[in-house]
Amino acid sequence: MRDETKCLHSGYTPKNAEPRVMPIYQSTTYVFDSTQDVGDVFDEPTKALIYSRFANPTVMAVEAKIADLEGGAAALCTSSGQAASLLSILNICKAGDSFISTTQIYGGTINLFSFTLKKLGIKCIFVDCDASEEEINNAFQPNTKAVFGETLANPALTVLDIEKFAKIAHAHGVPLIIDNTFATPILCKPIEFGADIVVHSTSKYMDGHALQVGGVIVDSGNFPWDNGNFPDFTEPDESYHGISYVKNYGKIAYIIKARMQLMRDYGAYPAANSAFLLNLGLETLALRMERYCQNAIKVAEYFEASDKIESVSYPGLKNDKYYELAQKYLKGGSGVVSIIIKGGKENAVKFMDGLKLASNEVHVADIRTCVLHPASATHRQLTDEQLIAAGVNPGMVRFSVGLENIEDIIEDIEQSLAQISL
Ligand SMILES: Cc1ncc(COP(=O)(O)O)c(C=O)c1O
Repeated sequence: MRDETKCLHSGYTPKNAEPRVMPIYQSTTYVFDSTQDVGDVFDEPTKALIYSRFANPTVMAVEAKIADLEGGAAALCTSSGQAASLLSILNICKAGDSFISTTQIYGGTINLFSFTLKKLGIKCIFVDCDASEEEINNAFQPNTKAVFGETLANPALTVLDIEKFAKIAHAHGVPLIIDNTFATPILCKPIEFGADIVVHSTSKYMDGHALQVGGVIVDSGNFPWDNGNFPDFTEPDESYHGISYVKNYGKIAYIIKARMQLMRDYGAYPAANSAFLLNLGLETLALRMERYCQNAIKVAEYFEASDKIESVSYPGLKNDKYYELAQKYLKGGSGVVSIIIKGGKENAVKFMDGLKLASNEVHVADIRTCVLHPASATHRQLTDEQLIAAGVNPGMVRFSVGLENIEDIIEDIEQSLAQISL
């Protein structure tokens, strides 16, 4: 199946006289015929469901759909994108380990990596997404267990050279984790370029309607966890009566470990209702991504032509620094355009407050056009130095183009820019 068809059909195939739509299995638990049957499922957790803290049929149908769209072997949904990023690292690193991340990532992920994981004894070493091979190699330490980056960074809109990062990570015997939130599998499938694990905030384009927060981790099934660097995957897990994830689960060792060990203990699993709504978003993802790209390039071109705008970042623009990489990795520039307005923060705020159709909100990738000033919101906690490293200028406005008629969006921009005098 192609993507448009997968969006509609993957993950759930009704049998004779079963419901057309995946039902909401609103149940915390599952019933067994005997105590022996319950015991058997603990021995072999892929045989049946145990408890909705880590597995539920409605959620699992969505997991299967996203795994299929990404070209992965298996997936695990989480209650937020943050939980997906957190668990993707905790499934590999423990206290005393380190991992490498590009600096151009979502501000909340910078917080998680710089502060919260540090408190757990896991160190994040940051490198620029445009760093040379030598610079990236130099960042590796003997305890480095993974490399992390965003396909299309929020809000810097840098495009990651996924093949380059995958090659370097693999040469050091560690996996590459890619946050593919802004691109979605419709515009980029990082696994095809060598990524081992893909994470998403499904709260963004996948849901698309600003209905519910969620995340997902996808396992490519390709990484050799038995290469000697990851004993937690090969040695018996004493918290799971001696299971060895690689020996017992082969290609899906990573996701089974994340589900049966981490999700069991952290419990950040989405509710069936949330997965049902996420599935509605996924059904139109391919169609929506096409239109987001069409609208966003027109908005980017409009900004580029305006004398009130200092610079525009949009990887679909021919003059954009990342145009070439976008041609290689993306099937479209996605829906977010970052601009720097002449006159700095003051005019950025004036422009945003002058918009009538676009709403000012802490969200992005919605069906409706929305704007955010990253320096005073999502990236507020960062120092000036960190802001620059994350690609966030104080005058930057993140313009998330929606699916309204493009002329209405442009007219709104026009009337608000007209209120700014230089
Ligand atoms: C690229 C990216 N990754 C992860 C997250 C975190 O996702 P969530 O808000 O669903 O926890 C976000 C949120 O904005 C994001 O933009």
